[in-house]
Amino acid sequence: DWTMAEFRKTKIEEIRAQVGGGRVICGLSGGVDSAVAAVLIHEAIGDQLTCVFVDHGLMRMGEAEQVVSLFKNHYNIPLVHVEAEELFLGGLAGLTDPEAKRKFIGKTFIDVFEAEAKKIGGAAFLAQGTLYPDVIESVSFTGGPSVTIKSHHNVGGLPERMNMALVEPLRELFKDEVRDLGRELGLPDAFVGRHPFPGPGLAIRIPGEVTKERCDILRKADSIYLEEIRNAGLYDAIWQAFAVLLPVKTVGVMGDSRTYDSVCALRAVTSTDGMTADVFPYDAGFLTRVATRIVNEVKGINRVVYDYTSKPPGTIEWE
Ligand code: XMP
Repeated sequence: DWTMAEFRKTKIEEIRAQVGGGRVICGLSGGVDSAVAAVLIHEAIGDQLTCVFVDHGLMRMGEAEQVVSLFKNHYNIPLVHVEAEELFLGGLAGLTDPEAKRKFIGKTFIDVFEAEAKKIGGAAFLAQGTLYPDVIESVSFTGGPSVTIKSHHNVGGLPERMNMALVEPLRELFKDEVRDLGRELGLPDAFVGRHPFPGPGLAIRIPGEVTKERCDILRKADSIYLEEIRNAGLYDAIWQAFAVLLPVKTVGVMGDSRTYDSVCALRAVTSTDGMTADVFPYDAGFLTRVATRIVNEVKGINRVVYDYTSKPPGTIEWE
């Protein structure tokens, strides 16, 4: 792709000019954006870059392993793997307000990056895979009065006291362009085609208090849902699909006994940039199959519902 080849060259020059001989830390989230940013920056400045993968315990099933193996085996880019589940889940205990959860997670990421920067003798820069829609939505929704809808942890959620300057080479791009750039940089197709996954991870798919137990329940339901989507050949037709674990218990019946367990909501949308979205129109048979499997296979869930809200007025994530 000519445009992306040009973009790649220009950005590499810009990154070199911005950071000079300084050290850069790049946080990998498991998503496409941070991976593309990391590979681009690595091409620009080589071992001045240290990639940090913070496992906050809020990843999906198998995700941490996939990210680590992509970077270590495919790219041979050194990766610091920080196990921070206790730190994140400990701090999330008792938090129920969506913005409080987001702010805590954003701040804790920075704490971890700063601690890692210290270990390598200091880093002047923090790199992130911020995209154009992240920038706009964190500031204002449709260019109207400035209202924060959600403080994306990689934009508005950063604490002001942070002592590293930001390197954000994807700030002008939309998602489809980042995918083109990823292909241009040689990222595997399966990775480039992954659905977006938010930095705060499963924490914003568990309304109310986040606990390890609830993360484990959600991971199981979500992996069944995604497995069925892949089996049905629908993965690439959907912008984003995921399960949400609701803080609501309802009564059900299993065999001859009463159950009293959580509700799981399924979300799937089509979109081109994440700024507006339409509900994905599954056939009823598909939803029935997924609901049956989740209720049968996931202890703690006894009811499954489908979210029929487009964006706007709904957002894609529930928090
Ligand atoms: P919403 O829920 O605002 O999401 O309609 C729009 C897109 O952004 C993703 N998202 C995030 N991505 N950090 C991210 O990197 C965040 O804090 C964040 N919050 C939402 C969301 O998954 C969707 O693709």
